[in-house]
Amino acid sequence: MKTAVVTGASIGIGAATARHLAQAGYKVICAARRPERIQPLADEIGGIAVECDVTKLEDVARLAEVVGGSLDVLVNNAGGARGLEPVVDADLGRWEWMYRVNVLGTARVTQALFPALEAAKGIVVFVTSTAADGGYEGGAGYCGAKAAERSMVESMRLELFDTDVRITEICPGMVATEEFSLRRFDGDQSRADQVYAGIEAPLSAEDVAEVITFMATRPPHVNLDRVTVRPRAQAAQHKVFRA
Ligand SMILES: NC(=O)c1ccc[n+]([C@@H]2O[C@H](COP(=O)([O-])OP(=O)(O)OC[C@H]3O[C@@H](n4cnc5c(N)ncnc54)[C@H](OP(=O)(O)O)[C@@H]3O)[C@@H](O)[C@H]2O)c1
Repeated sequence: MKTAVVTGASIGIGAATARHLAQAGYKVICAARRPERIQPLADEIGGIAVECDVTKLEDVARLAEVVGGSLDVLVNNAGGARGLEPVVDADLGRWEWMYRVNVLGTARVTQALFPALEAAKGIVVFVTSTAADGGYEGGAGYCGAKAAERSMVESMRLELFDTDVRITEICPGMVATEEFSLRRFDGDQSRADQVYAGIEAPLSAEDVAEVITFMATRPPHVNLDRVTVRPRAQAAQHKVFRA
């Protein structure tokens, strides 16, 4: 049976991706910090739950131990945004959090699981964001972190050109997940709700999970380098139709 690792599998895009990959026939290793969320998910889909904070070396080493010698799919999804302040007012502690998780955490997991991916001729899907395409007001910390994640994708694809490992990137636009904006705004639900206010149908976690699963299940010679997926109402980062 083919195996997949999804980081940040406790909720949102990660949890939906774990379910989709399981439906596609993968044994899914669900990694995140909250065991009370990943254990029931793993039980539901016949996978394995691994409590793992991607910023912690020992947790990532344990994840690699559970994975063992062979891994077909790695979905680097753990991440998120903190704050929306202009650069001059930004809390740099939040920037540090975003870099530690989105950039360094992703690099750490990729390094640790790379031998198993190489053994299986596997594929990595990095979940970056349209935020990686360029800055927006208040977004410098998050846009920078996601752009740094993208640079890993670009470098790795070149570095591995003569191997069988595939490196791919999905860039979602607005996805109405339960916690993404809530965490960005320190639990302020009304501020989080404003992000999606008036948008008839923002993307759902399932929409993104379906595309990730499609990317991961292409034949070994096919590489979807970068897929951008937005809701129809978001014609561009700032061009959003709100009723
Ligand atoms: N929602 C959007 O509009 C959107 C758009 C573009 C890109 N994205 C990206 O898509 C990914 C998933 O977003 P989402 O909307 O599903 O967000 P979410 O609902 O907030 O989920 C984030 C996931 O990351 C995990 N996580 C956070 N810090 C972690 C750490 N240190 N170690 C391990 N896991 C950690 C969380 O699990 P625990 O808290 O249990 O550890 C959770 O499962 C993120 O990388 C995000 O930047 C989101």
